Amino acid sequence: MIELAPSLLAADLLNLGKDVGNMMDQGVDLLHFDVMDAHFVPNLSFGPAFCKAIHDAYPACRLDVHLMMDNPEKYISVFAKAGAYTITLHQEPLADISGALEMIKKENVRCGLSVKPGTKAETLLPYLELLDYVLIMTVEPGFGGQKFMPEQVEKIRILREAGFKGDISVDGGVNMENAPLLAKAGANVLVMGTAYFKAEDPARVARMVKELA
Ligand code: DX5
Ligand code: ZN
Repeated sequence: MIELAPSLLAADLLNLGKDVGNMMDQGVDLLHFDVMDAHFVPNLSFGPAFCKAIHDAYPACRLDVHLMMDNPEKYISVFAKAGAYTITLHQEPLADISGALEMIKKENVRCGLSVKPGTKAETLLPYLELLDYVLIMTVEPGFGGQKFMPEQVEKIRILREAGFKGDISVDGGVNMENAPLLAKAGANVLVMGTAYFKAEDPARVARMVKELA
């Protein structure tokens, strides 16, 4: 099954609660939550208090927390307490990748790892046994609404060929045009900011993702 994870970054900022409610009404209960620190990426976004507010209002909404920040280890426990379903770290800022992943596991939260476009898929291979989730970036992290980088799709194939059975999600410029090729390559979670929240009919996008083989 292919799952849609709408990215909150593209939601209506003054009506975020409403957008999350609509999404849940459409049967979409996985929400991608981007955390940016203006150091690891050149942008600022949402913090743990906001994550908790969504979790408290919509306990059935699974929060897919994507930490784009330096020293993300310091925030693992904070986001676990704020209701994260998955916590995904970038491997680039980590000195001890396995140690940080073990910290997530100790919190009983699903454990994810991500790479920027310039980081090779092979660097993920030593950690696959620890991971529930790999998030492949198909834009430079930091902003929504960027152009999809098709050369990144190969990373999905490399992970599946290495035998990875966990979730593989794709984040950045994902839309209904590239969704079929991502599914075919082995991705099973599609993060969509612009293509979902800015769509004329988001419910239709949700239905189309469900219909992907
Ligand atoms: C980018 C973020 C993405 C972003 C995707 O750094 O990690 O989750 O919201 O937005 P779109 O789908 O518009 O590229
Ligand atoms: Zn993201």
